[in-house]
Amino acid sequence: PVLVVDFGAQYAQLIARRVREANVYSEIVPHSVTAAEIREKNPAAIVLSGGPSSVYEDGAPSLDGEILDLGVPVLGICYGFQAMAKSLGGEVANTGLREYGATAVTVSGTDSVLLGGQPAAQTTWMSHGDAVSKAPAGFEVLASSESTPVAAFASDERKLYGVQWHPEVKHSAFGQAVLENFLHRAAGLPGDWNSANVIEEQVERIRTQIGSSRVIAGLSGGVDSAVAAALVHKAVGDQLTCVFVDHGLLRADERKQVEEDYVASTGVRLVTVDAREQFLDALAGVSDPEQKRKIIGREFIRTFEAAAEALVLEARASDGDAEVKFLVQGTLYPDVVESGGGSGTANIKSHHNVGGLPDDMTFELVEPLRTLFKDEVRAVGRELGLPEVIVGRQPFPGPGLGIRIVGEVTAERLEILRAADAIARAELTAAGLDDEIWQCPVVLLADVRSVGVQGDGRTYGHPIVLRPVSSEDAMTADWTRLPYDVLAKISNRITNEVRDVNRVVLDVTSKPPGTIEWE
Ligand code: XMP
Repeated sequence: PVLVVDFGAQYAQLIARRVREANVYSEIVPHSVTAAEIREKNPAAIVLSGGPSSVYEDGAPSLDGEILDLGVPVLGICYGFQAMAKSLGGEVANTGLREYGATAVTVSGTDSVLLGGQPAAQTTWMSHGDAVSKAPAGFEVLASSESTPVAAFASDERKLYGVQWHPEVKHSAFGQAVLENFLHRAAGLPGDWNSANVIEEQVERIRTQIGSSRVIAGLSGGVDSAVAAALVHKAVGDQLTCVFVDHGLLRADERKQVEEDYVASTGVRLVTVDAREQFLDALAGVSDPEQKRKIIGREFIRTFEAAAEALVLEARASDGDAEVKFLVQGTLYPDVVESGGGSGTANIKSHHNVGGLPDDMTFELVEPLRTLFKDEVRAVGRELGLPEVIVGRQPFPGPGLGIRIVGEVTAERLEILRAADAIARAELTAAGLDDEIWQCPVVLLADVRSVGVQGDGRTYGHPIVLRPVSSEDAMTADWTRLPYDVLAKISNRITNEVRDVNRVVLDVTSKPPGTIEWE
């Protein structure tokens, strides 16, 4: 793989995605990684990410300098570029001039390996206070900006490269070309990683992991679990039984879509468990978001365990050898990284399929999507022949409507939210906006009431929040500018058709600082 060393900002994931967009497989490793650990992974190339620190700050993440001596091509970006310069004997100085945002750069190395084929004057996206003031001996300076004499450097001989700007950000006009030059030209990587390889590789891996054992998969109705289960089904056929837990936190019609559409398109064996009461009981009296997430995660696993036990008993009765040892989960790469797995970044939310797992769980996990981003999962799903209604579906969190009711979850509140959500989704689809929005959580502020008037009477009802967002991977997002007439229609219908709701409000916050879900 290409290893992306994470120096602690959000950039590492973006870099990993862009590398994959160049059809080269990439993985993120924490900045504490040692040269020995890197050697063990036998990477084809290394990218050092940007980060929030100054290389001279106390406690600034440092770079194991031996990484630069491994003979593996390295590209340093922003902080990674400075860390590299410092480690190689160059100079990094606080110029007192911050460059932030769109910045003009003059490229002198227009026939270099790294910046070849690029215009001499270009706009890049910068975010830094320190700057490299002197390149290390033997390095050629390839670009500069007004406040940065050394904005890019290279040693073709040592295959070490660096840029001060962020090529992974779309605002850097020729950013992707920098990455592609590094990967294809400097490191000589062919760019042959695609969904067909992913499927082939995962099928092989799944077969090795599962052997002749039995496996169950939880279907949530969402894209991830559907694709994960389809992959496992391709690998081990009817050793797989899919379990769909109706936890009562589903959207309208979701159960029917899984029981009918998905089964028809894949041929998987499906068991539906009605656990609506169990979940409501477990959630009674709880309004803290993290606690809700943990409870939902725990009940999920317990439900699977019970379903698995039933399968074992049933199978024992028929063929004698039927241990159900494995559980499939549609965990994605951002879940792994956001839950603090692998990068040392802060735990922002306990995603129910990672951080919320109980310690006494008895299944071994099969997570064939653990290294993939959402758009890559969709591509795999399409390659597997899953229908567009499933593959193109907007993301829906595992804890479902449970984390879209701010306050305690009750049957009555779920019914209100389900009705409002169905209206919003129907109107957004009718307006042809599904492709423009990444997802549109509909949130019930169950503990908030406001005064309204309807007919001749005073009402005292709850607000519903619409949270339409546009995003590439849910790591960052912006609120979607929906047409006013669509918003008006949704608002009208919800306040007229859903009891106890007398107000509809629009969430106009990007991520960060807001997350996509309210809890
Ligand atoms: P946030 O709210 O963290 O959400 O900005 C990012 C994306 O993740 C989804 N999400 C979850 N998905 N289990 C999941 O499977 C969870 O616990 C969970 N929490 C949030 C959210 O819908 C958005 O797409």
